[in-house]
Amino acid sequence: MQDLFGCEIRVSGAEKEKALAAWNGLAHAFLAHSAATPTHLNALLESDPENVLGLCCKGFFMVLAGRREVLKLLDESLEKAESILAQYGALPRREMDYLTALRFAKNGQWSRAAIILDNIADYEPHDAMAVKLVHALRFMLGDRFGLRASTLKAVERFDVDNFATGYIYGCHSFALEETGDMKAAEKFGKEAVFMKPDDAWGIHSVAHVYDMTAQAETGIDWLEKREKQWEHCNNFSYHFFWHLALHYLEIGNFEKVLELYDNDIRKDHTDDYRDISNGTALLARLEGFGINVGDRWEELYELCGRRTEDNCVVFADLHYMQALGRMNDVKAMDRLVNALQKNADLGLREMDEVNKIAGIFAAKGIRYFYEGNFNAAFDELSRARPAMQQVGGSHAQRDNFERMTIDAGLKAGRYNEAKALIEDRTWRRSVEDNYAKDRMATALSKQFDNSTQADKPEISLVS
Ligand SMILES: [Fe+2]
Repeated sequence: MQDLFGCEIRVSGAEKEKALAAWNGLAHAFLAHSAATPTHLNALLESDPENVLGLCCKGFFMVLAGRREVLKLLDESLEKAESILAQYGALPRREMDYLTALRFAKNGQWSRAAIILDNIADYEPHDAMAVKLVHALRFMLGDRFGLRASTLKAVERFDVDNFATGYIYGCHSFALEETGDMKAAEKFGKEAVFMKPDDAWGIHSVAHVYDMTAQAETGIDWLEKREKQWEHCNNFSYHFFWHLALHYLEIGNFEKVLELYDNDIRKDHTDDYRDISNGTALLARLEGFGINVGDRWEELYELCGRRTEDNCVVFADLHYMQALGRMNDVKAMDRLVNALQKNADLGLREMDEVNKIAGIFAAKGIRYFYEGNFNAAFDELSRARPAMQQVGGSHAQRDNFERMTIDAGLKAGRYNEAKALIEDRTWRRSVEDNYAKDRMATALSKQFDNSTQADKPEISLVS
């Protein structure tokens, strides 16, 4: 049998056609970031409980969730797939590669998993599911050049007639953007969306281009005209509103940012780490401009307090730390830093190295920042900075910590050092945005409000 992309696929059980349709639905939904992804996965495993690709995808989805309590579902999926291998003694090559990759992913060796999945292209060049899984794993590793190498090869393999090509272009667009090739990223992203209007990742990638190049009005227009096209998304839709809010922030429309925050970005108070990071990062940016955000930190703090020992993804931990720091929960911050340190000492996973080279320094820096010890905050955040790429996420997301580092330097009165960071940030983004202009003016005038963020900000937009 062949799937939607022309790949050989093995389905078993009495309902083979139904299982194949469910696999196709699953692959399409995952590529498009659709909310229907789990529905298709459940349908696949109901009609074909021994579908090894489906079981492995379920395992990978648990890895991507970046939260400790779902790892038992990863274990269950892997055990089931292992039992099918033991039962038959061998599996088709593609299934074996998915299973091997999942073994590595379970043990925290995501790069190894990504390499195995990438190499499936040698014999199954149109396995779009593998390409997308690799993209997601490398994104979480902050491996931007790995992303680009992977999608560049994929773009060469997929011709325009393949169902997946638009989604592959969307992935390539993002890889180009993260490696600084903005014009090519915009071109590939727009082409992706033209080919597949529901390609949420392609729409999103172009929004990133407009953020990095400070084209806020264009970004607003791009996103607002395409709201229907990401309506099908899972929690990724919150992230679209987050990007829209970043564009409004850039033009100084703080009322609109807060409106988006309340009505869209945090309307559901979800505890997915990506949703929480949207929230904490946006509140911190607003407070960085002196905006009073009222009691909005509280619901985030409640959620983050429960995740102090997760350490599945350092990117997530640092956003949790931000809410804990902002609300001055010393015990919870100690728990979080201790968890990072403990795992760094164990050194079993790739993420433990990230703890060691960036996570622990950054977490301590965030704590010092909210405690008002800006000298120490600047020292710790600056120690983390060279390795911050490896905490994962995008440039736009990590800018949250970049801004905090610069602001710590300014608040500590270390104007020349902060100025160097502002220049470096602008060089990396290629265009000076309003944040950079504002902070550069401060650095040159050597006057910065050195109050803590917890102090009542002067600008109040909320009743
Ligand atoms: Fe994004």
